[in-house]
This record gives sequence, structure tokens and C-alpha cells, in this order.
Amino acid sequence: MKNIDLSFATEQSHYKILIGEDLLKQEIFADILKSDTVFIVSNDTVAPFYLNTLKQALSGYKVHTYLLPDGEEFKTLDSWQMLLHQMISVRLRRNDTVIALGGGVIGDIAGFAAATLNRGMAIIQVPTTLLSQVDSSVGGKTAVNHPLGKNLIGAFHQPSLVVSDISTLSSLPKREYLCGISEIIKASIIADNSFFEWLGDHAQSILSLEQNVLAEMIERACRIKANIVALDAKEQGVRAWLNLGHTFGHAIETCAGYGELLHGEAVAIGMCLAAKFSHQQEHLSLSDKQRIVSLIQQFGLPTTIPGHLVATELANAMRLDKKNTSEMLTLVLPEKVGQVMIDRTVHIEEVEQFLIREMS
Ligand SMILES: NC(=O)c1ccc[n+]([C@@H]2O[C@H](COP(=O)([O-])OP(=O)(O)OC[C@H]3O[C@@H](n4cnc5c(N)ncnc54)[C@H](O)[C@@H]3O)[C@@H](O)[C@H]2O)c1
Repeated sequence: MKNIDLSFATEQSHYKILIGEDLLKQEIFADILKSDTVFIVSNDTVAPFYLNTLKQALSGYKVHTYLLPDGEEFKTLDSWQMLLHQMISVRLRRNDTVIALGGGVIGDIAGFAAATLNRGMAIIQVPTTLLSQVDSSVGGKTAVNHPLGKNLIGAFHQPSLVVSDISTLSSLPKREYLCGISEIIKASIIADNSFFEWLGDHAQSILSLEQNVLAEMIERACRIKANIVALDAKEQGVRAWLNLGHTFGHAIETCAGYGELLHGEAVAIGMCLAAKFSHQQEHLSLSDKQRIVSLIQQFGLPTTIPGHLVATELANAMRLDKKNTSEMLTLVLPEKVGQVMIDRTVHIEEVEQFLIREMS
């Protein structure tokens, strides 16, 4: 068994990320809980797999449980309000602890409830998707969606502990697993050429869920995210690097209609487009462009825009992206594998022409 204890510091807090096999079967909570009461938030897909194991690890504590229906569509203010109502009904006190057991949706909504109840309570994140283990559980962003946009209502609230039990990935659907891989490839392109190489060398072991390899992969990806967040906890600067592939990706998601592509799949296509556009702008070499597209392909993730989408509509969706002002786009572009730049000088027309060529 390989347990990694990664300490993570931001301006406001310092916490551990535990990564390993069968962590939920171990007594890992005693040091961190400040009272005899915990409140577990999960959903009706994840709970049948792991709730009992988690409860056993908490024997001796008073455990309350609240299950949300599964799905991004329930990451709403209504769900948050019902969750808070339940927490208040059982008289949760400020020194009790919330535990989020699930993917990024559960982590985000439970995190926002913990951020807001009693003006802030401790939360332990127990992420059960690969994406949440390497991305959403690290960095303290919590949120719910609003009909006018995703994650518009939220707070920065760092967890007191993250427990990434890689054994939970065995029940994760393969497409969801690959979405996590997409975010991991993104992290390597942003900051670590040797990790990028390592991912290619270990693709087979990663796809067959070899536990030791997974532990190393998750640790390295978390370190990259943790380093970026530590530099910029409140997202004023370098944290924007993490948007690599997202401006193209969001446009593809919007135009394809939510549901056709998973977010990580759209980001995979978005990263390929960012690499190709960056090469066109002479920021990125031909060989690094090809390496990026090949690695994404090697994991069976999509690399091209679905044929039924329309280039001008994609460009329009990018124009409306919340990070952009006027006719100029802000794009995160790879300069080489392991380094990105933020280009605020890209004209929407240039991107539109690029997309038209790309789709012809
Ligand atoms: N806070 C952040 O910094 C941050 C970063 C990235 C994404 N997010 C948010 O994360 C969410 C996406 O997270 P996600 O990709 O984990 O999606 P998700 O939480 O919807 O999980 C994906 C699916 O897998 C199921 N699932 C989870 N764990 C499982 C397991 N071990 N076995 C079987 N099924 C399992 C879920 O029930 C769901 O159906 C989005 O809402 C996004 O906005 C937040």
C-alpha cells in the first residue's frame, strides 16, 4: 500500500491530502475531527458503494447523512438550501465537521454549505472521481450553479483534510475516469514536461488502474494544482493557467448541448485546439503540438471538434465566454510542454478563421 501525505499550504490554511488504497478502511479521521459529530453529504450513486465503509471508519462518532440526487442539475441553490435546512435541523455546531463523499458536484455543494453554515465549518473532502481527486477537491473553490451560469454562487473555503482513496476509482465509469485523465494531461502541459512524458510511458498501467501508478499520478497532478493555487489562492493571476483548453472546451460544450460530451472530453478537444492555435501563432513548436495531440489520443480521448458543429457558432460562444471583453479573447496557450502563457491579444476574427480551417 502506498499512502502519500501531501501537505498543502495557502495564505489562509494548511492541510493534508492523503492518497492511497483503501484509505476509507483506515482510522484516518481521529486526529482531525474536533467534536463527536460529523455530517456526511453524498449522492444516491456513490453512497451504495462507499457510505457504509466510511461510517465504519467513523464508528464512535455521531454520524448524520444527507444524500442528494445524482447530477450536475442538482448543484443548485435549492439543493444547498435543503442541505442547510437538514444540517440546522440536526443542530450541527461550528466545531462539527462536514464530510463530502463523492465527485466534484458533491464536493462543491457540500463545500459551499460548509462555507456558509455558522459562518464557516470544517469540511473533509473524500473525492471519489479521478477529476475530483486531482482537481476540484484541491484549492478550496466551492459553488452552486445559477440558471445564468455555472458556479456563479460560491465561496473560497479550504478543506481541513482531503482523503483520496484510489480504490474508489474501480467503480467509476470509464468515460468519467478519462475525464480525470484529461485534467491530469492539462496539469502536465501547464507545468511539468517530465510528468507529461511519464504519462505517455505509463498509459497502459494507468488505463488498467494499476494502483501504485495511480497513486503516483494523482500525487504529481495534485502537487501541480497545489503549487499553482498556493501562488494564487483567490484566482487573481496564475490560477488562470488552469483554464488551458477551457475556452475552446466551453464553447464546444455549449454548441454541442450539454450532455453530448462530458466536460473532460470537451477540455481534451479544447487542449488540442489551443495547441494547434498556439502553433499557428508561432508560440508552440510543431513537435510539441504533435506531442500534445498524440498523448490525448493515446488515452482514447477525443481530439477533434464534432463534425456537426459550426465554426462561426463556436467563435460566437467564445466571444460570450465570461472571461472575455469586447472583440478580444483571453486564451491560455501552451508555449512548450510544461509551460503556458496567457494571451489577451487574440482577436475573435483570428479564432473564427482558425476554426473554419480546422473544420474544413
Ligand atoms: N471546485 C473546483 O475547483 C472544481 C474544479 C473542477 C470541477 N469542479 C466541478 O466538479 C464537477 C464535476 O466533477 P466530477 O467530474 O467529479 O463529476 P460528478 O461529481 O458529477 O461525478 C461524475 C459521475 O460519477 C459518479 N461517481 C462519483 N464517484 C463515483 C465512484 N467512485 N463510482 C461510481 N460512480 C461515481 C457521480 O455520481 C456522477 O454520476 C462540476 O460541477 C464542476 O463544476 C469544481
